[in-house]
Amino acid sequence: MGFALLNGEIIERSEAKVDVEDRGYQFGDGVYEVIRVYNGKLFTAAEHLKRFSKSAESIGISLQFSSKQLLEMVEELLKKNNLETGNIYMQVTRGIAPRNHVFPASNVTPTLVAYTIKSSRPIDNLKSGVKAILTEDIRWLRCDIKSLNLLGNLLAKQKASEKGCFEAIQHRGQDVTEGSSSNIFIVKDGTVITHESNNLILKGITKDVILDLCRKNNIPVIERTFSLTELDDADEVFLSSTTAEVMPVIEINGKIMKAGVPGKVTRKLQDLFQKEIEKQCGVLVS
Ligand code: PDD
Repeated sequence: MGFALLNGEIIERSEAKVDVEDRGYQFGDGVYEVIRVYNGKLFTAAEHLKRFSKSAESIGISLQFSSKQLLEMVEELLKKNNLETGNIYMQVTRGIAPRNHVFPASNVTPTLVAYTIKSSRPIDNLKSGVKAILTEDIRWLRCDIKSLNLLGNLLAKQKASEKGCFEAIQHRGQDVTEGSSSNIFIVKDGTVITHESNNLILKGITKDVILDLCRKNNIPVIERTFSLTELDDADEVFLSSTTAEVMPVIEINGKIMKAGVPGKVTRKLQDLFQKEIEKQCGVLVS
C-alpha cells in the first residue's frame, strides 16, 4: 500500500484515515489535483500546483503549505513509494468541523492528503482511439474550479461506461463543453478548435500544453465554443487529460467519425506531446 501524505507528514497509507466530519467527506467541500509521473519524475508539476492553489483560493481555503513546500513533499512521497509510472492524487478539504453548511471558524485546519497510484500509459487506446457518447452537461457553472464535487461528471462517465465507451462528451444545448474528465478538441481543415477556458470547463493542464505545442509548431489553433454539428462534421476529434494524454476519438454515439482511425493532426500532436514528456521526464520506453 505504501505511504501517504497527511497534513505535511508522510505516514503509512493504511494509517491515513478520514474523520466522519471531514467536510470533504460530507460536502465535497474541497479541491483536488492529479499529477502524472513518468520515469519517476513529475510532469508539469508547477502548473498543477498553481491550479491547486488557485482552486483552493477560489473557494476560500487557505493552503497551509506553499507550492514549493507541496512540491518537495510530493517528490519525497514519490521516492518513498518508488513510483515509476503513475499518478499522484492530492486533495485539500476545508477540514473537520461539526456538520454545518456555513464555513467553520478560520482556526479549523484544512485537511491535505496525497498518495500515489501506479498506472501505465494507455498505449492501446492511444494507438487505436476510443469511443464516446454525447450527454447534456448538467453540472454547475464553476467547472473551472477543480472541485471534489464530481457527481455530474460521474453520472456522465457512468453513462459512457454502460455503453462500452471511454468518455462522455458533454454539451450545453448545442455547445460542446468538455468530457466528464477531459477536454475535447476537433480538427477542421487543419485547424485545431477547443472550448475557451472559462467557467464552463476546467482549464486543463494538458490542454494548455497542446495549445502551446500547436503555436510553436505552426498548427493553426483557436479557442472558441463549437457546436454539436461542428463536432459531427469534424475531420478529427481528440480528448486530453493528465492520464489520457492526447487521445483520439474515433466513434461518437455509435457513429464512426470520418476514417474511423486517429487523424493526421492528432498523430502529430501525440508525437509532439510525447517529446514534451521526454523533455521533462526522460525517454519513454512504452
Ligand atoms: N481530470 N476536464 C475535466 C472535467 C477533468 O476532470 C479533467 C482532468 C480535465 C483535463 O485536465 P488536465 O489536463 O489538467 O488533467 C478536463 C483528472 C485527470 C481526473 O479527474 O482524474
